[in-house]
Amino acid sequence: MPGQVREAEPGPGGGVIRFGRSELRVTVAVNGAVFWGWDGAEPEPSYALAVGCPEPDPRAVLEPDKDGGWRVVAERVTVVVSRHGGLDVCTPGGVVLRRDLPPRWWEPVGGGAARWMQRSEVAADARFFGLGGRAGGPRLRDGSYRLWNSDPGRAFGPGDDPLYLTMPMQLVVADAGAHLVFHDNTWDGTVTLREGEEGAGSGHDRPGRCEVRMEGGPVRGWVIVGTPARVLHTWASLTGAPALPPAWALGHHHARWGFGSEHEVRRIVAGYQERGLPLDSVHLDIDHYEDHQVFTVDQRRFPKLPGLADELRRDGIRLVSIIDPAVRAAPGNAVYDSGSVLDAFVRDASGRTVRGEVWAGESVFPDFTHARVRKWWGDLYEERLDQGFAGFWHDMNEPTSFSAFGEPTLPRSARHALEGRGGDHREAHNVYALCMARAGYEGLRELSPHERPFLFSRSGWAGAHRYGGTWSGDVATGWPGLRASLSLVLGLGLCGVPYSGPDVGGHDGVPSPELYLRWFQLGAYLPLFRTHAGPRAGRREPWEFGPQVLEHAREALLERRRLMPYFVTLAQLARRTGAPYVRPLWWAAPEDRALRDCEDAFLLGDCLLVAPVLDPGVERRAVRLPRGRWYDTLTGTPYEGPAQVLVDAPLSRTPVFAHAGAVLPVRGEDGGTELEVWAPAPGRTGGGLVVPDAGDGWEVAEIERYVARRLGRRVVVTREREDGPEEPSYPVRVRGLG
Ligand code: GLC
Repeated sequence: MPGQVREAEPGPGGGVIRFGRSELRVTVAVNGAVFWGWDGAEPEPSYALAVGCPEPDPRAVLEPDKDGGWRVVAERVTVVVSRHGGLDVCTPGGVVLRRDLPPRWWEPVGGGAARWMQRSEVAADARFFGLGGRAGGPRLRDGSYRLWNSDPGRAFGPGDDPLYLTMPMQLVVADAGAHLVFHDNTWDGTVTLREGEEGAGSGHDRPGRCEVRMEGGPVRGWVIVGTPARVLHTWASLTGAPALPPAWALGHHHARWGFGSEHEVRRIVAGYQERGLPLDSVHLDIDHYEDHQVFTVDQRRFPKLPGLADELRRDGIRLVSIIDPAVRAAPGNAVYDSGSVLDAFVRDASGRTVRGEVWAGESVFPDFTHARVRKWWGDLYEERLDQGFAGFWHDMNEPTSFSAFGEPTLPRSARHALEGRGGDHREAHNVYALCMARAGYEGLRELSPHERPFLFSRSGWAGAHRYGGTWSGDVATGWPGLRASLSLVLGLGLCGVPYSGPDVGGHDGVPSPELYLRWFQLGAYLPLFRTHAGPRAGRREPWEFGPQVLEHAREALLERRRLMPYFVTLAQLARRTGAPYVRPLWWAAPEDRALRDCEDAFLLGDCLLVAPVLDPGVERRAVRLPRGRWYDTLTGTPYEGPAQVLVDAPLSRTPVFAHAGAVLPVRGEDGGTELEVWAPAPGRTGGGLVVPDAGDGWEVAEIERYVARRLGRRVVVTREREDGPEEPSYPVRVRGLG
């Protein structure tokens, strides 16, 4: 433990407080985020930070506190350090949001990584979210959550943990305010959470508890205090803006492990086209590789891939390729040979290349924590671009190896460059996929400088959003899997990864027509809308489940297409503000406790509330509405929130509500953008933002601001500009006037 306080030394943005056995640095950055580090830990090096550590806030001051403690006072947060090394994170009004008790270390006698542990307390009413993609969330209930990216090895459900993408980042929401805490440490660890309980009558409150145990690595982190929107904005300013997917990636994707041939791809595409079903992208899985080997094509079954890609592109459909990191260890295999020359593959302590077993058989693994290896790997995407692929789907990058070295990944003793610092797999494991994403992203930027790279990755870590999104991995076919799909998208969004979505229909089984349809209807409102399944699973094309499902799936696809300008706007806003497209209901009202516990509905941006059906046999469902007026978008019926309402949810629809006053861009019948405006309540105003699609390049579109005013039975919409309001240039359709 740190021991007793000795002295403090002010510095820019805070200072260093020295204890008998350790020292603590506290620095408030200009963006309001607070860095704390024990034992000389500095903010850098860090895989999470986008461009290094932000400047310190010169206004933050270190001053003596009572009982021999110290405090750092900043504009939005006060950090109080007790004389034993406890750290309280307080609002400017002095309410404690988080109390970190002094950390404890265990230093091995013979040297080496010190394990450490830190306990914290939060308010009795607080709820925990985050920690990456968790199937049992989004509210993280009492239990232990491991920080070790893992392929569960089979299709997963809500009880499976950890999964592919973990992150030592929590968002804690309580009456007194929200805060984010990020332990900037890539090592294996466990976070144990226990929600608090408020004492009934005159009884005492039991605080919520969090215990972080790490197997090594620095005792350091960041805390950000504020509304959820502000917290995520600051997080993005620290870790980078989320990559902006091209507009086509916001449409519908169809994938399958096992199309098996160009012929089958054409048959599926024709199936969509003949039935008037919008399709924007087709994904080719490992079965299009020559013998499962990455960066190759099976010429027998895909003899003219570039031609197929061209043909599809003319119809507005892009091809996406899976990319697995493992490289078959076979001389003569070009990727293996060029990687070997470069010494690109992970070795063990004795210098031998580490071998594992993945789809392509005995394989070696590029060390993506080395800049030279990333460059080599990024260049390999040229072959993919030549084949006509427009997007990339990174898989098996936890990394997974079936030939278990105790667990299905590389041995912990495997060596990694770690940007020249050197270390082993215990430290590199969790950032393996992040570094692979960086390699792909940077390679694509160089190879195709005029297009934004589109990639999404199964695994990742804090910062992975800079390069692309993720998807939910192999979610089990079944109603629990459907629920887990939403939980993952919501939880990842709160971790700053706004673009994700599930395998619609689940990865492994045969969904009932009803389950398939409900999954499809949910997917239509999630950022990544993709049908995908494994080779032994049932079919996933919308026409395989009977005429009724086909009809309703078509409606869902058409609605997705209609909402495309809104999705484009949400993607651009995510890039600029860090706000996820899919948000929990409490996003704008974190103090509303009933909303904090609501996990079966979500906000899509500021304008819409989506209440998907997540259970079988449902014809009606209850929906909890936040404050304000909400219109049922199907019937136009207004409801006044906060309230719980019961609405029809027959197979033909997903209940969706629009916020009164909302102005959202949609695609009109002629294909042009229109403004859909939901009447403000009498005497109120509303508004919305529109960011037009500026193409697949780097051009940045301007944010357009619209205001809606209610004048008696009329609604007037104007675009707000610096030199005054003006008429919108889009057609306006007002709804909700009854
Ligand atoms: C993994 C992926 C899955 C993919 C399969 C074959 O299981 O999660 O999406 O289809 O590998 O590449």
